[in-house]
Amino acid sequence: MNALHTILLVTNNAKIHDCVTASIRDDPHYRLIVCEREQDVANHLNVVNVHLLICDKALIADDVNNTLMNTRISNPHVARMVIGHVGEEEACASLAKRAAAYLFLIFPFPETLIQMAIERSLEMSELSRRHRVLSRELKISMDDGIFGEAAPFSVKGGWSQFEKLVYVSAKMAELCAEAKQAATTNLPILIHGETGTGKELLARAIHFNSDRMNAPMLVQNCGGINEETLLSEIFGHVRGAFTGAISDRLGLFRAADGGTVFLDEISEISPGFQVSLLRFLQEGEVKPLGSDEMGHSDVRIIAASNRPLDKMVEKGEFRRDLYYRLKGFELEIQPLRARPEDIPVLAQFFVEKYAGVVGNRVVGITQEVLDRLSAYQFPGNVRELETEIRRMVAVTEQGGYIAVRHLTPAMASVQPKVPGAPGAGFMPDGGTLKEMVESLEKQIVSQALQRNHWNQSKAAGELGLSRVGLANKIKRYELNDL
Ligand SMILES: Nc1ncnc2c1ncn2[C@@H]1O[C@H](COP(=O)(O)OP(=O)(O)O)[C@@H](O)[C@H]1O
Ligand SMILES: [Mg+2]
Repeated sequence: MNALHTILLVTNNAKIHDCVTASIRDDPHYRLIVCEREQDVANHLNVVNVHLLICDKALIADDVNNTLMNTRISNPHVARMVIGHVGEEEACASLAKRAAAYLFLIFPFPETLIQMAIERSLEMSELSRRHRVLSRELKISMDDGIFGEAAPFSVKGGWSQFEKLVYVSAKMAELCAEAKQAATTNLPILIHGETGTGKELLARAIHFNSDRMNAPMLVQNCGGINEETLLSEIFGHVRGAFTGAISDRLGLFRAADGGTVFLDEISEISPGFQVSLLRFLQEGEVKPLGSDEMGHSDVRIIAASNRPLDKMVEKGEFRRDLYYRLKGFELEIQPLRARPEDIPVLAQFFVEKYAGVVGNRVVGITQEVLDRLSAYQFPGNVRELETEIRRMVAVTEQGGYIAVRHLTPAMASVQPKVPGAPGAGFMPDGGTLKEMVESLEKQIVSQALQRNHWNQSKAAGELGLSRVGLANKIKRYELNDL
């Protein structure tokens, strides 16, 4: 094995923890993430690329509705193992069977045994992964008409991944390389990007690639929240600090000690909060509201913004010194429309993600759908794509392909880009010059409207038309907001 494998161990038993840790000690091929509560497992699986889940039977509360069984459905490719104690053999066997686990082990066992079990289970899941890929390729080669030329790379699963971030574009590859580097440091990180581009997912990937991964990453959205509440959420308060403060509150910075705090919508914080945050970044000092005592906390800050902070600094809306402190690393996630080559792989990835969950075995997605999705502007970025695929998987018939008729009208009406056509992917219809020019005009106007969510003033501004001029074109070309 030369790839890095991630093992998620669910236990609060120090002896089991030590034994598993010892069994893989110093082996750079493994990363061990420990989670002490069953209810945290699903969150971990959503943000970390886990290969093997090892569950302590003692933490499994319900025989039927439990982490192992749920993982079998939501993340079937994650290998599973159960650890129980003497006397629990029967129960472990039945649980392992129902969850289709690789095996169960009864603690105490020698390190060498768990070490070998880990190795074998990972080999086994790698073999079944290869088997899946090959069978799918075989099926596709017999099914050419549906996928056309461009699809196979996406169907092969030939995408790159940084934890749960999936991509093929050079822009994302560069960004993830920088993020991995940033992860190894303790510097604050500032992530820019439109909503739905994956800022939070990137922050989690960074956290789980830093040596803080076994401490918590806590999230605070700073938008739409008043200064006092935000101060008390982050720095904590003592009882009686303000009306309604009926007991002490620890605050995120101290609750996440040793870990990471993700501050979303950082552009929205008040001048007063900016000062407190700056002091924390400079001195690591945490002063709860209403307290005279200064506490300390070691957390790494990752902040995110969908507004350009540098412009805000120029306008005097955000402190320059804080901005410079926050951007130990500055990462920008491009909107999806700026990296359309990621659209087909993301679509394929989400089909796989939801095909199993909804219980609807969708076979795949047609090239025609991928072409339209690739030409769509995605104002809501990856989140919008994910929501759309989830909906389409649910409405596609058993054993069928997601086809154009399943798309929402806004996406179905997109004119697919045709490589090599004039006008940056526009495909003019008609024979005479006048017809072709009109067809191009129609497509340009239609895309401008779509980009601006049918805000006609904005689209008109972008196209250099008057509102009336744009309204005339909408009428003439019978465009409508589907
Ligand atoms: N590159 C990606 N690969 C897979 N899923 C992604 C990617 N980018 C975003 N997502 C998914 O899109 C949704 C929105 O991501 P999120 O991190 O919340 O965006 P943001 O914080 O920028 O609004 C989430 O469900 C996330 O899992
Ligand atoms: Mg977000």
